[in-house]
Amino acid sequence: MRKPVIAGNWKMYKTIEETVDFVERIKPVAAQASHCEVIVAPPFTALAAAAAAARGSKVLVSAQNCHWDKEGAHTGEVSTLMLRNAGCTHVIIGHSERRQEWGETDEQVNKKVKAALAAGLTPIVCVGETLAQREIGETEENLERQFVGGLAGLTPVDFSRIIIAYEPVWAIGTGRTATPEMAAEAHHFLRGLAGRQFGEREAQGIRILYGGSVKPDNVGALMAQEEIDGALVGGASLKVDSFTALVNYPRG
Ligand code: PGA
Repeated sequence: MRKPVIAGNWKMYKTIEETVDFVERIKPVAAQASHCEVIVAPPFTALAAAAAAARGSKVLVSAQNCHWDKEGAHTGEVSTLMLRNAGCTHVIIGHSERRQEWGETDEQVNKKVKAALAAGLTPIVCVGETLAQREIGETEENLERQFVGGLAGLTPVDFSRIIIAYEPVWAIGTGRTATPEMAAEAHHFLRGLAGRQFGEREAQGIRILYGGSVKPDNVGALMAQEEIDGALVGGASLKVDSFTALVNYPRG
């Protein structure tokens, strides 16, 4: 019903040559993996090369960020049309590193999501609480604020075209994973919000990925949760071997 997604967020890693080599080696893996969608998100400089290498295969290419305008005087920015033109099908929006390092707001996330949809890209919209928020019991309040703000003004049809990634900030790059139960609880909460805002059918159809220190040895337990529809993976997505193991996660 909800096709799982295994997505690698490469962050600021890999040259064009390294990207093409990776894509070439992961193509046969993706070809065998009919149980899930396989996405890689290289840095901007390597997107066109990644898409060219992936053409005709089951490897999909995502950007890690975008601007909301079609074009304009925005030094250093890249538009959703440019990403489409480079061969991307997806774009990660509102990653916690962008929220923390660049002060990205829910309002900006919202504009980016709308621009991505308008350009025919699938937005992978990231939400997640910080450790401080979790410790003072504000996990759900934060998730709701990010969900409602980031997805404001979307129609149910728009909503059905996006992917959500739940990434607790304290689990990203720390080796500290949310337990499968903790993640499932947050996913369940998000699906409830989706039901209230967009409708029950849309809520049942939306794919919610978990992100934060997903590795080959914990991906099976996470994916065994009914609520978890895939993984957005940083560190463990950078090596072909571990990304292959993630794509081929243990299935019951
Ligand atoms: P990580 O990163 O897997 O290295 O924790 C996840 C992410 O930031 O998407």
